[in-house]
Amino acid sequence: MKIKDKMKDKTELKSLINDYCKDKGISKADFARRAGVSGATLSSIEGGRFDLISETMANRLFALLNEAVGQTIYKTRDFNAVQKACEVARQHHFMIGITGDTGTGKTTALTHFARNRGVYKITLTKSMHQRFFLDAFLKELGQECYGSLGDKVAKIVDFINAKANALILIDEAGKMTPNVMLLLHDIREATRFNCGIVMAGMPYFRTNLERNAKRQQVGFAEFMRRVNLWQELDGLNRTEIEAIIEDKGYSKETDMQQFAGFRRFADLENKILLDNILNGGI
Ligand SMILES: Nc1ncnc2c1ncn2[C@@H]1O[C@H](COP(=O)(O)OP(=O)(O)OP(=O)(O)O)[C@@H](O)[C@H]1O
Ligand SMILES: [Mg+2]
Repeated sequence: MKIKDKMKDKTELKSLINDYCKDKGISKADFARRAGVSGATLSSIEGGRFDLISETMANRLFALLNEAVGQTIYKTRDFNAVQKACEVARQHHFMIGITGDTGTGKTTALTHFARNRGVYKITLTKSMHQRFFLDAFLKELGQECYGSLGDKVAKIVDFINAKANALILIDEAGKMTPNVMLLLHDIREATRFNCGIVMAGMPYFRTNLERNAKRQQVGFAEFMRRVNLWQELDGLNRTEIEAIIEDKGYSKETDMQQFAGFRRFADLENKILLDNILNGGI
C-alpha cells in the first residue's frame, strides 16, 4: 500500500525545476518570483554550480516543488480519498470541502496532488487579509502582484480561465476569514466552468460555515451552496496501523497493542519516534 519517495539530491533541482515550469506553464522568472529566490540562485542551478546552493535553500526549493524529501507516503484510505476528491474536482470543476482532524494527513495528501500539472496550492492563515490572500494566490500562479484588489482578482481569473482544467487547492481552509471567503466566492463564480477547487480543513471549517450561514452572515449560505461535495476523513484503521508499524520494523502480532489506539497519523508517527528515542525502538 505504500510508495517510497527516494531521497532527493541537490543535483536533481535543475531537472525538477525545468519539469515544474513546463508542467505549470510558467517561465523561470515566474518560478523565481514564486520561490522568492534570486536570478543568481537560479543561474547557479542552471549552470550546475550546486556548491553555491545551501542545504536550507535546496530544501526550501524541494518543498516548493512539492517533493517529499525522503518521506514515505502510505496510500491509506484517507490519502486515497483526498486524491480522488482532487481528481473529481478537477474533472467536473467541482468545489469540494474536505474535513479531517489535525494530523490526519490533509496537507500531506494535498501536497502530493499538487505535483500534478495545472494544480495550485495555497495555504491560508488566520491573519490572512484580502490583499495578502490575493498576493499568495498570484505568487502561487507565478504572477506579479500589483494593482487594486479588483485588478488582482481579474488577473487570477484570467490566468485560470486561460488553462484547460486548473485545480486550486486551499489548505487550512478553517482559517478562511469572511472577507477571504467572499473573494474566493467571486473567483469561483468567474472560473466555475474551467476550474475545480478543493478546500481542506479541520471539522470546524464546515461547522463554522454552517453556523454562519444559519445566522444569515453575509455570503455564507451562498458559499455553502456552491460546495458540491463534502468528504470527511476517518483517520487510520487497524489494518493501516498494522501495515505502517510493520513497515517501520515492528511486529503486528506482538507490538500492535501499544499502537492500536492511534487514529491520527501524526500521533502514530510521534509514538514511533518516542519509542525509538526513549526505548531504543525496535
Ligand atoms: N499518507 C501519509 N503517508 C505518510 N505520512 C503521512 C501521511 N499522512 C500524514 N502523514 C504524516 O503525518 C503527519 C501529519 O500529517 P499532515 O500534516 O498532512 O496532517 P494535517 O491533516 O494537515 O494536520 P493539520 O490539520 O494539523 O494541518 C505528518 O508528519 C505527515 O508526514
Ligand atoms: Mg495541515
